[in-house]
Amino acid sequence: MEEDFVEKILLGASVFRDERSLFPEFLPQKLPRREEEISRLATDFRPLIQKKGSFAINIAITGTAGVGKTAVARYCGKHIKNAAKKKGIAIKFILYNAHTFRTKTSILRNLLTDHFNVTARGFSDEEILGMLVKRLEKDDMRLIITLDEANLLGSDEILSIIHASEVFGIGRSRISTIIICRRTEWRAILNAPLSGHIHDQINIPGYTRDELVDILTYRAQLAFNPGVISEEIIEMVAEIASQTQNARHGIEILLRAGKMADYEHNSEINAENVRRAKVGVYPELRPDVLDDLNDHELLTALGLARRLKHHGITATTINEAYKYYQIACEEKGFKAQSMSAFRKYVSHLDSVGIIGKAVGPLGRGRRGRRARITLYDLPATVLEERVLKILELHNKK
Ligand SMILES: Nc1ncnc2c1ncn2[C@@H]1O[C@H](COP(=O)(O)OP(=O)(O)OP(=O)(O)O)[C@@H](O)[C@H]1O
Ligand SMILES: [Mg+2]
Repeated sequence: MEEDFVEKILLGASVFRDERSLFPEFLPQKLPRREEEISRLATDFRPLIQKKGSFAINIAITGTAGVGKTAVARYCGKHIKNAAKKKGIAIKFILYNAHTFRTKTSILRNLLTDHFNVTARGFSDEEILGMLVKRLEKDDMRLIITLDEANLLGSDEILSIIHASEVFGIGRSRISTIIICRRTEWRAILNAPLSGHIHDQINIPGYTRDELVDILTYRAQLAFNPGVISEEIIEMVAEIASQTQNARHGIEILLRAGKMADYEHNSEINAENVRRAKVGVYPELRPDVLDDLNDHELLTALGLARRLKHHGITATTINEAYKYYQIACEEKGFKAQSMSAFRKYVSHLDSVGIIGKAVGPLGRGRRGRRARITLYDLPATVLEERVLKILELHNKK
């Protein structure tokens, strides 16, 4: 072993120009193919910059995983701040992710201590709010609070943040909100009081293959040295990510494929790098969720995936799903369990976020509103593929 081989690696060539530009927290200068949503959000917030007086604007942004909800909000926030500065208006834009800040109280406390240098210890939520509102008035400042993954807060907590400034009288509110939520989860938390406060709801659609080609071409330019990645390889990645319509999916593959090229001391990213990189990138699901399921839960997921992968079917019923579960059991050599056991498997899949249960329409050409089972964001074909792999592994043991 040569003594300086670690230094050779550390100082050696890389396919990356800026690897960090592919990290999740990186906000690019541009968001190609999201011009429409960005314009709409900016238009919604224009009164805050152009009109005198104080009022609140509350906007919801929904959409499936990786379609740019967080990126669009952060992007607009940055430009709202710049525009406000030009107008001599003080606006603070602050984003809270409810994974980290799980309650209204923790958000309010953080707001005061981190952004207004006020110690909030020992005060009630109402007192904190009072202090905040007074401070905003004194400084003649507006606040835009973005609540990301807001479903984790629930509608009551969201409402109380929206209500916060209204307590001090209509026309005196200085706190606006952007509420970000995946679409299925938004439906679950949306109720009449909440929807009464939302001025606009922006539904962001998934990305098509062509849109992903544009986005990934741009992101690759930021991340890689010239000549490292060809158009064909970018198209290949876009093709894969178009299955989930998720930009994060594509960006993660770019990052992993680049790392693989570096490990192999290649100066270019090749198709094999991409094939290997795509394995295990399932950006909408916590990676270990499926690994923790038992055989019958997996067979339940398999049956559901097969039922729901047919075009135009958005949801199924428990009876219908049970039939598909029975077929899956037969095929894999398991004895199908009773309906009541099956209901438990379905409940479990629901609680870990793989599927959703709700009451609503069943999809194209299928009448009636019934208790229905649907997939949370994860495409049925991807679920089927993954479940089959895990079942295989279980049965080899
Ligand atoms: N139009 C775009 N141009 C460039 N990069 C994009 C674009 N849309 C999304 N991205 C990038 O894709 C990744 C996913 O986007 P983002 O985090 O905004 O998705 P999201 O809709 O908030 O997803 P989730 O529901 O999982 O939170 C981010 O790295 C973001 O920078
Ligand atoms: Mg997000």
